[in-house]
Amino acid sequence: MWDDALYLGTAHLSQKQHKISIEKPKFALMNKNPSTQILFQKDAITWLHQRLESLADGVTPVFLLADTNTYQLCYPKIKSCFEGLGDQMHTIVLDAGEASKSLSSCQHIWKELLKAEAGRDAVLFNLGGGMVTDLGGFAASVYKRGIRTIHIPTTLLGMVDAAIGHKTAIDFMGVKNPIGSFYAAEAVLIMTDFLTTLPKNQLVSGLAEVIKYGYIANPKLIDLAHIDQMNPEHSEIIIRYCIDAKQRIVSADPKEQDLRKILNFGHTIGHAFESLAMERKDTLLHGEAVAIGMFCALWLSGQYSQKAFGLLKSYNHWYRAHFIPYPIKPADTARLMELMRQDKKNKGNDLRFVLLEYAGKPRYDVGVPDERVKESLFAYMDWVRQVDLQENT
Ligand SMILES: NC(=O)c1ccc[n+]([C@@H]2O[C@H](COP(=O)([O-])OP(=O)(O)OC[C@H]3O[C@@H](n4cnc5c(N)ncnc54)[C@H](O)[C@@H]3O)[C@@H](O)[C@H]2O)c1
Repeated sequence: MWDDALYLGTAHLSQKQHKISIEKPKFALMNKNPSTQILFQKDAITWLHQRLESLADGVTPVFLLADTNTYQLCYPKIKSCFEGLGDQMHTIVLDAGEASKSLSSCQHIWKELLKAEAGRDAVLFNLGGGMVTDLGGFAASVYKRGIRTIHIPTTLLGMVDAAIGHKTAIDFMGVKNPIGSFYAAEAVLIMTDFLTTLPKNQLVSGLAEVIKYGYIANPKLIDLAHIDQMNPEHSEIIIRYCIDAKQRIVSADPKEQDLRKILNFGHTIGHAFESLAMERKDTLLHGEAVAIGMFCALWLSGQYSQKAFGLLKSYNHWYRAHFIPYPIKPADTARLMELMRQDKKNKGNDLRFVLLEYAGKPRYDVGVPDERVKESLFAYMDWVRQVDLQENT
């Protein structure tokens, strides 16, 4: 069966190679790897001080985008860096939550920029989780055809994933991320001190993305991604490993034509759970949904590869230590399958997955028949039932 999977993967690549046999112009190559400086801890603060000092010319408009929580809890930690700016500084604070990742928030940002007569020299600092960096990055990428932007992620998910890799987006018409751009921030500043105020469920949601990097790129992270170990020193180590993995993947394939797809491990089924929960008005964070998606992806991997078979058992221990299983009924599988079909990454009839040959060895574009996908959902339901039974006896 893995031969089929390999065939799908290589068929896809050889088609692509065939298409791009014409020599690319030089500017396309230059744009392929836009550079973003990534700075950690003290280096990040020093960079921020120096950057803001260089901007304090009395003229260049400087904007800070935050949400209500990050403005209240995170901004005080870096406020002193912005103090020399006086009237040059403009602050935009939005309601916290995914609902703010919208076109109307973009319009609000663009209005504030226009009101301040911001030209292409303006600079936008995005202080927040993935909602703020996705939104601010997108707003900056199209205002006057692109102004400089700097991400200061404040959630674990933002630090290991959303602020890294140049993807920006807003939600539109109830769909997540259909409008967006690839746009490089000038810098991403990682300061783990922000994590001290992050609610535990948000930290755990970020850990799901951390363990994902363990399965697809660096198996060390499978053991390191544990809530009990999350002191500042440990957080910095795992964030560095994750960023290293993401940068290697993204620089090999900036626009998700092939290798970058491996970052979607657990996400096809995870997104379907996220949408189902939204329809039911349940709260299910992104990482919580991806954690269910990874259960199913590991179950499927075990069906195709002997070496991946044992992975689910240890994953289940990890899952139980971090999450309360989200319940679904057999009748929900039809809707989940429909939602998976709407996934923008699918082509043709097959549902395509990232599966593992073994930990650290992912395969992308693996076509899986619907029946198998449903079996993985039933395996999840069975497991949730067993957990419930164990907890109630
Ligand atoms: N661009 C990408 O490559 C990429 C990758 C993954 C996810 N995303 C996007 O990221 C978003 C999710 O990001 P998120 O999980 O960071 O959510 P988020 O930005 O909504 O933050 C979660 C919550 O934590 C609060 N918060 C943030 N930092 C805090 C802090 N230090 N202390 C206390 N509270 C804090 C926020 O106000 C919010 O209520 C989604 O929109 C998703 O689509 C983008």
